[in-house]
Amino acid sequence: MMKTEILKIESLQDTVAINRAGVFLREGKLVAFPTETVYGIGANALLEDAVTGIYKAKGRPSDNPLIVHIGEIKDVYLYALEVSKKAEHLMAEFWPGPLTLIFKKNEKIPLSITGGLDTVAIRCPKHDLARAIITASERPIAAPSANISGRPSPTMAAHVVEDLTGKVDMIIDGGDATIGLESTIVDMTQDIPIILRPGGITKAMLEAAIGEVTFDKHLLNTAAHVTPRAPGMKYTHYAPKGELTIYDGNDELVVKAINQQIVIDLASGYRCGVIAFVEDRDSYQCSVIEVIGAREDHEQIAANLFKILRNMDEQGIQRIYAKAVLEEEIGLATMNRLLKAAGNRKVIL
Ligand code: TXA
Ligand code: MG
Repeated sequence: MMKTEILKIESLQDTVAINRAGVFLREGKLVAFPTETVYGIGANALLEDAVTGIYKAKGRPSDNPLIVHIGEIKDVYLYALEVSKKAEHLMAEFWPGPLTLIFKKNEKIPLSITGGLDTVAIRCPKHDLARAIITASERPIAAPSANISGRPSPTMAAHVVEDLTGKVDMIIDGGDATIGLESTIVDMTQDIPIILRPGGITKAMLEAAIGEVTFDKHLLNTAAHVTPRAPGMKYTHYAPKGELTIYDGNDELVVKAINQQIVIDLASGYRCGVIAFVEDRDSYQCSVIEVIGAREDHEQIAANLFKILRNMDEQGIQRIYAKAVLEEEIGLATMNRLLKAAGNRKVIL
């Protein structure tokens, strides 16, 4: 167990605290900090031992590469071997922001970060405090989501404290992550860029900036066993301890089917919970109902998902039911995480 210092930073004016976090990172310590998407565990990307420490703290397989976070957009040229015109358009449009771009890496980036790949994922986050800490470190910062591998990503400092106390040197409490789902990842090493992980920056937004973009095959067909190109997307992820099932189809049938299933589960002694839209919260017969947002409020739904999955765990829920969310805007990314959390258990009515 390491000693974990928890540091609340409420303002960018708190330069003493920001510099302290920066120095910790530069020296090779592990520092969890907020970003606009989810909290990350940061480590100096140029120090092998620090990077190894991240894998250990998370219990993450070492072939699953990390995203390198930079404090200033221009730093991308320090680590990418080539930056295409299309990539520059995306950087101009969406950085700093919730978009990770994959480039061919140069020799500065150790293979321990990239899981042995010759490419590197780079993101310049929008979160001012995240950028201030990275800049203070004067280093590129490798930062995966600050959860134990497999668990829902942390959107609040309390989630990080729960997962990583004793495993990292410092946890920065900088308030809740606003987006609540991890960044969109786009592979820029191909002529037609490929979305490897959907997020808040949607395909339509990317295409408005640079023309045609495609989805990685595994995103189009979850049933077929296509190996995802983002190694992390092949692992069980975001999963609550309870068994989650998604119901899709006619609204009334879905509510009815979930209610019927709950009766059966309760008879078997399971503790049940429902993830409900505002509109149908009153239609479920269940003592634990977590409201995720109004049906069409895609952003609110995205922001609440991981917190709700953790709340279900906290209440000891063993069977969780959720209606499919609308796959519009960030809703596509929410559905991607929801399906992974459910191990693809989906009932279509
Ligand atoms: O929003 C985010 O991206 C958050 C915050 C903390 O910035 N970070 C995050 O990191 O989600 P992580 O480690 O949980 O997810 C990184 C994903 C994994 O699926 C990994 O396989 C993929 O990025 N990835 C990293 N480098 C890659 C590469 N060179 N090629 C393909 N996929 C890569
Ligand atoms: Mg993650």
